[in-house]
Amino acid sequence: MNELFSVKDKVVVITGGTGVLGACIGEYLALEGAKVVLMGRRRDEGDRLVEQIKAKGGEAMFLVTDVMDIEVVRENCNEIMAAYGRVDALLNAAGGNMPGATIAPSGTFFDVKVNEFERVLNLNLTGTVIPTQVFLKPMVDAGRGSIVNFSSMAAFRPMTRVLGYAAAKAGISNFTAFLANEVATKFTSSIRVNAIAPGFFLTNQNRALLTNPDGSLTERGADVIRQTPFKRFGKPEELCGTIQYLISDASTFVTGTVAVVDGGFNAFAM
Ligand SMILES: NC(=O)c1ccc[n+]([C@@H]2O[C@H](COP(=O)([O-])OP(=O)(O)OC[C@H]3O[C@@H](n4cnc5c(N)ncnc54)[C@H](O)[C@@H]3O)[C@@H](O)[C@H]2O)c1
Repeated sequence: MNELFSVKDKVVVITGGTGVLGACIGEYLALEGAKVVLMGRRRDEGDRLVEQIKAKGGEAMFLVTDVMDIEVVRENCNEIMAAYGRVDALLNAAGGNMPGATIAPSGTFFDVKVNEFERVLNLNLTGTVIPTQVFLKPMVDAGRGSIVNFSSMAAFRPMTRVLGYAAAKAGISNFTAFLANEVATKFTSSIRVNAIAPGFFLTNQNRALLTNPDGSLTERGADVIRQTPFKRFGKPEELCGTIQYLISDASTFVTGTVAVVDGGFNAFAM
């Protein structure tokens, strides 16, 4: 059997592990044989996901975290090292938005609340840098690993309204390229740093922007579909193959890239 894409026995840490995308990817990887560590804020949801994975025959554990608190993340890392002795991959899937960092349809830039803008930058960008700094250490010690950050369509071209989120995601794409260079030149080419840029997937963080309470599309949701050649939102499971590729030996010469999974959104002009 071809082992090129194998993730068997890899210890894979996922921040935002109780989120829609993180949970879906975590279950997929666990059922492919990875030892998955879901890290999130909600213990009840984390425990439920772990039980679900175990019931299907996969291996997983859940840890409560806050990606903006380096001491908490260090404690998480200690627990994972005590359990498995290594970290093979880190998926930085924690993220989100806040109303004050987003401009309402009738609003302008002057309505942006700077403190909420800062919180969105902190959650998405600093909340990627902190787990990376913590989990890169055991990877450097072991001489191998793979990091996948979560960027966005908003990173390529600033999208209307989501000012804070777009700035943070552009920062994540930039950080990905920066760190790929830093790690390869100062440590080893066996640690790779890439990002995935999902198109539009209906999840908790964007449901209210894209759909009305009755499930119909908002004006923005309809704009997204019009701009997407596939004419639909993505399904969370459609990210799994790209993640598996990025953390497996199938991508040993791939670093500093942003993999786009968007039904053609980013390639569409008119
Ligand atoms: N859904 C999309 O269309 C889309 C598109 C592009 C990028 N993304 C990115 O994908 C990632 C996953 O998002 P999702 O769509 O699954 O949304 P989600 O809201 O379902 O998941 C995000 C998770 O991050 C967690 N989180 C928030 N603050 C945290 C903190 N301080 N510490 C730890 N965890 C925290 C939330 O609890 C949640 O579980 C995010 O980075 C998001 O920006 C999503």
